[in-house]
Amino acid sequence: MSKNKLTFCCQTCGTLFPKWTGQCTGCGEWNTIAEELSTPAPSSRFNGYSGTQAAMTRMTDVKLQEEIRLSSGSQELDRVLGGGIIMGSAILIGGDPGIGKSTLLLQAIAHLSQQMKVLYVTGEESPQQVTLRARRLGLPENHLWLLADTHIENILAHAQKETPRVLVIDSIQTMHTTLLSSAPGSVGQVRESAMQLVSYAKQTGTALFLVGHVTKEGNLAGPRVLEHMVDTVLYFEGEQDNRYRMIRAVKNRFGAVNELGIFAMTEKGLREVSHPSAIFLSRSSQPASGSIITATKEGSRPMLVEVQALVDQSHIANPRRLSVGLDTQRLSMLLAVLHRHTGISTHSMDVFLNVVGGLQISEPAADLPTVFAILSSLRNRALPHDLIIFGELGLSGEIRPVPGGQERLKEAAKHGFKTAIVPHANTVKKTLDGMKILPVQTLKEAVDHFDMM
Ligand code: TYD
Ligand code: MG
Repeated sequence: MSKNKLTFCCQTCGTLFPKWTGQCTGCGEWNTIAEELSTPAPSSRFNGYSGTQAAMTRMTDVKLQEEIRLSSGSQELDRVLGGGIIMGSAILIGGDPGIGKSTLLLQAIAHLSQQMKVLYVTGEESPQQVTLRARRLGLPENHLWLLADTHIENILAHAQKETPRVLVIDSIQTMHTTLLSSAPGSVGQVRESAMQLVSYAKQTGTALFLVGHVTKEGNLAGPRVLEHMVDTVLYFEGEQDNRYRMIRAVKNRFGAVNELGIFAMTEKGLREVSHPSAIFLSRSSQPASGSIITATKEGSRPMLVEVQALVDQSHIANPRRLSVGLDTQRLSMLLAVLHRHTGISTHSMDVFLNVVGGLQISEPAADLPTVFAILSSLRNRALPHDLIIFGELGLSGEIRPVPGGQERLKEAAKHGFKTAIVPHANTVKKTLDGMKILPVQTLKEAVDHFDMM
């Protein structure tokens, strides 16, 4: 037996220190370093799953098996996973408490239980609570096994005996291993528990789902360490008070990242939204100033969303730039470009931005619509409500093309938009349902269009 030693570990990023310090040199956070028992020697670490010694292989000799992808019963979830669940892969699902992680996994695993044995390990709810929810949602329960335990060694012993094909751990923060004496939820415990589960999954070909809670700052508690260990990381987005829930793949070894799956939370659980293009549109009958519709392409589908801005006289020395759904740094940059290339100043103004519906837009195609929403609020002038805009803004005031321009325009035309301001390189030759397309090369040109509307 190796003797356990005390170490100090940052609870945010997992950096180890030989002694306590106030600030973590790994992530720069203060007061995040806590005492932990260091991990024992690796020989005892995997609890019988250390595996046999691997031999070297020539690449030409590697035999490829056909990837088996299981359907989770939900096209949206399958899509963010890259086409279904791969056996032997580890998938981390993160999100705020109450956003619907347990509901989503219960629905998926109940669907899978029709064909194979699956095990749902619950560390937060009792088997009664889980069953009650499943019954209420009318889910199939054929080969669905439940285990209310938080002890990794017990869970693995059960799994080894019962050999479920899919294993769900809800949640990883409640799990603990006897190898460490620190409290469940600490970085050490989360990392060690996840490591054992992942190596079990890899060696037995079991598909593993780990549920992880997100801290207030938007990080998974014990987060970065987990992201490296698993194959796929999915995050829930959206607000609790909104009925739509978005799931985004932020890492995927078996598919595209940034793919977005959209669900609606109903009294019958999570329902998929297969045609989400206009769910975020809440067009009022009267055009309002500060509001503009853009066609964004988060993942593989175009979606129409409303960007709202409010520009108001500031009464503080450093005017506020706040943004929900768009990057605040990018907002500051856009305001600087606007001032430098058109002379329109917002120096003494507070600028607030909002993407309606709780969607997060991370692509630069939202630059031009953002600027238009700001202009519209600044001048208190409403734009026609059949106008659609997209385009990236460069630092020298040029409008750069965006991917998938034609698809975006088609989607907008389908929903009755009549005028489009688009980057010059995204112009389409064919006319689209009588849509008037105004190509722009510079911000100056775009602002001229604004003035003429
Ligand atoms: P849950 O899956 O328990 O969240 P998490 O596991 O991420 O913490 O979801 C709980 C929320 O979803 C709760 O606020 C109630 C709501 N909900 C519904 O609206 N309809 C339903 O059918 C279910 C099961 C939950
Ligand atoms: Mg839960």
